[in-house]
Amino acid sequence: MMSNIWSSTRDFLVSLVQDPRRAVEDSKLLLQAIIQNPLDYIPLLAATSVISGIFAGLSIRSFSIHSFRSIPNKQLRETVIITGATSGIGRELAFLFARDGYSIIIVARNIKQLEETRRLLLETNKSIEVFCISKDLSIAESAKEVFNEVHTNPMYSHLCINNFINNAGVVMRGEFLRMDLDKQSDMIDLNISGLTRLFHLFGSEFARRIDNGSKQKFRILNLASFASFTPNPNMACYGATKSYIHYLSMAVHEELKARYGSQLSVSALCPGLVDTAAVPKSGTQHSILYKLGQYDTPERAAKIGYHTMMRGERYAIVGYMNGIVIYLCQAVLPYWLQAKCARIGTSDWSSLKLSAFFKDQLRVYQGNEKGAEDMAFASTNEPTKE
Ligand SMILES: NC(=O)c1ccc[n+]([C@@H]2O[C@H](COP(=O)([O-])OP(=O)(O)OC[C@H]3O[C@@H](n4cnc5c(N)ncnc54)[C@H](OP(=O)(O)O)[C@@H]3O)[C@@H](O)[C@H]2O)c1
Repeated sequence: MMSNIWSSTRDFLVSLVQDPRRAVEDSKLLLQAIIQNPLDYIPLLAATSVISGIFAGLSIRSFSIHSFRSIPNKQLRETVIITGATSGIGRELAFLFARDGYSIIIVARNIKQLEETRRLLLETNKSIEVFCISKDLSIAESAKEVFNEVHTNPMYSHLCINNFINNAGVVMRGEFLRMDLDKQSDMIDLNISGLTRLFHLFGSEFARRIDNGSKQKFRILNLASFASFTPNPNMACYGATKSYIHYLSMAVHEELKARYGSQLSVSALCPGLVDTAAVPKSGTQHSILYKLGQYDTPERAAKIGYHTMMRGERYAIVGYMNGIVIYLCQAVLPYWLQAKCARIGTSDWSSLKLSAFFKDQLRVYQGNEKGAEDMAFASTNEPTKE
């Protein structure tokens, strides 16, 4: 009897992913069976409730503790370097550090946007200093140039650089073979190679200073993604770069914890979809997830990132739902099924196989009268022209 329970539930879950029409039939069969023999289903319901309860509890615990209080910078001239701080999550992170009195070095390519961000940060807190470095971090030499600049230029000599945020990154959506190879290589150069170089250079310097007797706290935050947990069809290469960042950060977190305790921490931030300039650049506004409103604000992602970094936590997932979905998927679904689920979320809205009626209802719900549009495959990551 038990095997019937599990097999009919499994059939329903599989058809839910593979063939939504068959899933409707399977769900009716499952419901009928539950109504006819409710007692047989008690163990399954109990197991599901316990597992869901544990993971929901864990998620809620880890997200609700972010009380978003201000953490004042007591040490004079504590400084943070933030890459990609002229837009989106990076810019919101910069505002949080400005509010708490940190001096800030912002790195991006577009000089005009760097200057504008600097002006806004100084408006937020006049007592801090803000410095701009214009650099394309997808170029191999850039990481060393940034590192040498802040350690040899006398302009920075009074600063205590003890926080580093590897935020600059490109989001790309589309089928792997249909997207331009050079653009995907550029993304790897930025998301993986550039990040690794900066992480190693600044991480080593922080460790050297502790070895030389510094009592300062040192923190590094790397921007991973919700996409880093599963294979990501329609965002295959991008998702893989984020998995690299997530796993690298988690592994180095353990190495540093064993050697330096909480004095030098590495954290990874894993936001789901965030409504920034990266969304239209990558065509992600056409995805089912976006159309269903499953995205966060950059302010919220930054707040969670800030507190995760300040506490030296391993990683944080942005959003209650994202946390629950990830924990449940990882606990229950095999990899291939996780990949299928991810494909649904990242697919184009117009490919959604729902009845026209249901689709219309969703559109009305979203206030989206324009309806589904075709997927824009290629992402452009050109710096804004001035
Ligand atoms: N938005 C999302 O849905 C989402 C979800 C999960 C994770 N993330 C990650 O979060 C991070 C920030 O994303 P976002 O959405 O806030 O992006 P965004 O708004 O597009 O901002 C990207 C920032 O990076 C800079 N940048 C881009 N290419 C660069 C390069 N080659 N060298 C130096 N700087 C460069 C940009 O400035 P310039 O163009 O002037 O260089 C800009 O300041 C990325 O690592 C992204 O992968 C985003």
